[in-house]
Amino acid sequence: MRSFVGFGAICLAAPLVQAISLDVNSTQTLTTAAQTVASRVLDLYSSNSTTIGLFGEPYYWWESGLAWDTLIRYWALTGDASNNAIVGESLMWQVGSKLEYMPVNQTKGEGNDDQAAWALAAMTAAEYGFPMPSGSDDNITWVQLAENVFNDQVGRWDDSSCGGGLSWQIFTFNNGYDYKNAMSNGNFVQLAARLGLYTGNATYTDWARKATQWSLDTGLIANTSTGNPGAVYDGFSTTTNCSALNHLQWTAGAGTYLSGAAYASNDSSTLFWNSAVFALLINANSTFAPNGTLIEVACEMNDNCSTDQLAFKGILIRGLAAVRDLTYDNNLTHGANATAPQSPAGSVHGLVNGILQTSAKGAATACSGGGSGTDCGSSWTSGSYDGSSGLGQELNALEVILANMPAKAIKNVNSTAAVSSGNGTSSSSGGGGSNNSSTGTSPASTSSSSAVPKTSTNEAAGRLLSTTGLLVSLAAAAAMFL
Ligand SMILES: *[C@@H]1O[C@H](CO)[C@@H](O)[C@H](O)[C@H]1NC(C)=O
Ligand SMILES: *[C@@H]1O[C@H](CO)[C@@H](O)[C@H](O)[C@H]1NC(C)=O
Ligand SMILES: *[C@@H]1O[C@H](CO)[C@@H](O)[C@H](O)[C@H]1NC(C)=O
Ligand SMILES: *[C@@H]1O[C@H](CO)[C@@H](O)[C@H](O)[C@H]1NC(C)=O
Ligand SMILES: *[C@@H]1O[C@H](CO)[C@@H](O)[C@H](O)[C@H]1NC(C)=O
Ligand SMILES: *[C@@H]1O[C@H](CO)[C@@H](O)[C@H](O)[C@H]1NC(C)=O
Ligand SMILES: *[C@@H]1O[C@H](CO)[C@@H](O)[C@H](O)[C@H]1NC(C)=O
Ligand SMILES: *[C@@H]1O[C@H](CO)[C@@H](O)[C@H](O)[C@H]1NC(C)=O
Ligand SMILES: *[C@@H]1O[C@H](CO)[C@@H](O)[C@H](O)[C@H]1NC(C)=O
Ligand SMILES: *[C@@H]1O[C@H](CO)[C@@H](O)[C@H](O)[C@H]1NC(C)=O
Ligand SMILES: *[C@@H]1O[C@H](CO)[C@@H](O)[C@H](O)[C@H]1NC(C)=O
Ligand SMILES: *[C@@H]1O[C@H](CO)[C@@H](O)[C@H](O)[C@H]1NC(C)=O
Repeated sequence: MRSFVGFGAICLAAPLVQAISLDVNSTQTLTTAAQTVASRVLDLYSSNSTTIGLFGEPYYWWESGLAWDTLIRYWALTGDASNNAIVGESLMWQVGSKLEYMPVNQTKGEGNDDQAAWALAAMTAAEYGFPMPSGSDDNITWVQLAENVFNDQVGRWDDSSCGGGLSWQIFTFNNGYDYKNAMSNGNFVQLAARLGLYTGNATYTDWARKATQWSLDTGLIANTSTGNPGAVYDGFSTTTNCSALNHLQWTAGAGTYLSGAAYASNDSSTLFWNSAVFALLINANSTFAPNGTLIEVACEMNDNCSTDQLAFKGILIRGLAAVRDLTYDNNLTHGANATAPQSPAGSVHGLVNGILQTSAKGAATACSGGGSGTDCGSSWTSGSYDGSSGLGQELNALEVILANMPAKAIKNVNSTAAVSSGNGTSSSSGGGGSNNSSTGTSPASTSSSSAVPKTSTNEAAGRLLSTTGLLVSLAAAAAMFL
């Protein structure tokens, strides 16, 4: 049914035990590195998939959606369209009869977070102008698929416990229906924020705000009063008063809320969204990059991350890149509190770029396993391949390589207009795409313009994420935070 012919064509003939060579300032080496990892992702698919669109055991359904999302971004940033037919076919095959990513094979175990993973891939396709597979119904658009999932999930918003929120699971008969978690609610926030920016329809933005506010009210996102502001916790059960938080922090939960806040902040640069970006970013830095390189702090050091958890880091990388590409830069300062004397501490974009560059170097070193000598391991701090291989490890590495490439502006519903701003880190090689794209459509917009600052709105509700008490304050916004 599937045609795998040509899968290996871009696979580089690699000698044994080489790492992926990579200079974060060279678009050419980043493109080559991305190609190596993408080809390994496609190899994993072709060797083990038994159903179109699914990577098969041991990968749960959501992770396949994540993989296609990453491969769309791979095409957008490198221009290599050689996987597009497989990506498009997969996203359409799994869409289900109601065009809402609930195919019958999955529905008995599908969670809201799983469904959203596929919707976010469709959203990425819309934003980059990914071509619809030939033969698709002319009336279907990527953004409609994302909207259908959004509307499903709005219908599941559950006021019957904890003052609102989405349950982890969709169906009452599944374990986890009585659990409200960061991944389901954060993915919903991200989907809504991206739909809001793309369509200009305030319904989406309002829901992004409402779901973020609910997350703050319940402590799913910590605020200043609880300590650790900006920390995103795993979730809580609705059967124990909605207050017994599971305090584990995952890169994926932090990353999906961070993406949502960055998109929403680009859409409307209010204090609420700007401070959400700030708090989430500062916490992510200290929690997940204690030495500059991203780690999955809850399991990586003990080497007991699950298959799912091994795919999380790329989600935070996407959030970090969204902060850099979609929000205004601001200088950071250190001080005892926001009113105390301050000393310079770099900038928001500088902080993001530092994490992304250090992590990319670590990932390249870790991608030195297997027969090819370029299979990616899970730990980026070990200085070598750690023996752990699989789809998530490859996706994380691919995301961090892509995040160091010149960003591509994203489109909105008017198609010809690019959303500001797109500020990648790489500066050499003339930037922008590659010279090795093969056949197929290129992203419509290749511009990489800088953001035009919008007026910040000082709204009382934005005080929710006060920085008071943090060791870092955002000098430019300090007055508003007090
Ligand atoms: C990349 O460029 C930046 C700024 O030009 C420089 O500070 C940094 O050292 C360079 N990094 C590498 C690995 O060349
Ligand atoms: C593919 O599946 C087979 C059988 O389940 C397994 O032994 C093998 O490790 C898998 N290959 C990869 C690359 O995951
Ligand atoms: C559902 O499962 C059947 C049997 O394995 C398979 O043929 C079909 O392609 C699957 N459909 C989807 C959407 O995964
Ligand atoms: C597309 O939508 C129009 C109007 O709703 C309908 O007439 C047409 O049959 C649809 N085309 C396809 C291919 O479904
Ligand atoms: C699309 O264009 C219309 C007409 O110019 C404009 O009113 C609308 O704001 C645009 N939408 C977005 C999301 O930019
Ligand atoms: C805005 O989006 C919502 C949710 O999809 C939809 O119901 C509504 O019709 C949209 N409004 C406009 C003006 O398109
Ligand atoms: C801070 O978090 C606490 C605990 O979850 C919550 O009760 C409170 O409403 C939150 N405060 C604000 C201003 O969001
Ligand atoms: C980022 O985290 C590191 C490690 O905890 C810390 O040294 C640094 O000050 C943090 N940067 C900011 C801007 O918070
Ligand atoms: C960070 O670096 C310090 C000093 O080298 C080391 O003790 C610590 O284990 C490192 N932390 C992580 C998470 O790698
Ligand atoms: C950030 O700091 C630099 C110098 O450290 C200064 O030139 C620049 O104007 C500052 N930007 C803002 C927005 O304050
Ligand atoms: C802020 O820090 C300064 C200097 O350490 C201290 O005098 C002041 O009391 C602090 N303010 C608050 C609100 O903690
Ligand atoms: C991109 O960000 C870098 C570092 O944050 C900055 O120096 C540069 O001016 C920015 N470029 C544009 C086009 O905004």
